[in-house]
Amino acid sequence: MFITFEGPEGCGKSTHSTRLKSYLEGKGERVLLTREPGGTQVGKALRDLLLDRTSVLDDTTEIYLFAADRSEHVSKIILPALKEGKTVISDRFIDSTIAYQIGGRRLPEDLVRYLNMVSSKGTLPDLTILLDVSPEIGLKRATRNRQADRFEQEVVDFHRRVRARYLAIAAAEPERVKVIETDDKDIDQVQSLIREIVDAKR
Ligand code: TMP
Repeated sequence: MFITFEGPEGCGKSTHSTRLKSYLEGKGERVLLTREPGGTQVGKALRDLLLDRTSVLDDTTEIYLFAADRSEHVSKIILPALKEGKTVISDRFIDSTIAYQIGGRRLPEDLVRYLNMVSSKGTLPDLTILLDVSPEIGLKRATRNRQADRFEQEVVDFHRRVRARYLAIAAAEPERVKVIETDDKDIDQVQSLIREIVDAKR
């Protein structure tokens, strides 16, 4: 099974994907937890470039770097692990590109969808957990203990467009994408909803 976590800045993806991994391993499953960008050796260098607030990247260059990261990730990490029968959990995948590059950056929809298709080799998650959070709360959470990265430092309207695009994806694909509102919930409440959703899918 291929599960992805998605959401705006500070939505809690990293915490919840790590906890879900432990939960599934507790049930005897073999689980690979990975992320985008940065799930491969080349991807780590791309991640540094993409998140460094001093990088000045054209929006088209930016999406090519995400596509390069994903090509490596899908062919070297995700597909081999799925073939070995592992459950793969990825912190971000194709929906991030739709939300950030179409919603946030306003790149042409056909370009983004084409690059997503090529870079993912047509791989679609079986289940996507969208952790929704308002930009006001999420950005505060994300930058509590460190400086904002290149995306986090974008204006709040950028983050509103990203969030709206995520919610539009979920509305269009309700079978695959399950939304959990996190503004009004603590970590344990959100995690137990995630476990219910994952258990129901299996
Ligand atoms: P994160 O892993 O800490 O969430 O940081 C990754 C950042 O990269 C986040 O701001 C979202 C952004 N991103 C895109 O803009 N497009 C993409 O396709 C992916 C995977 C991430």
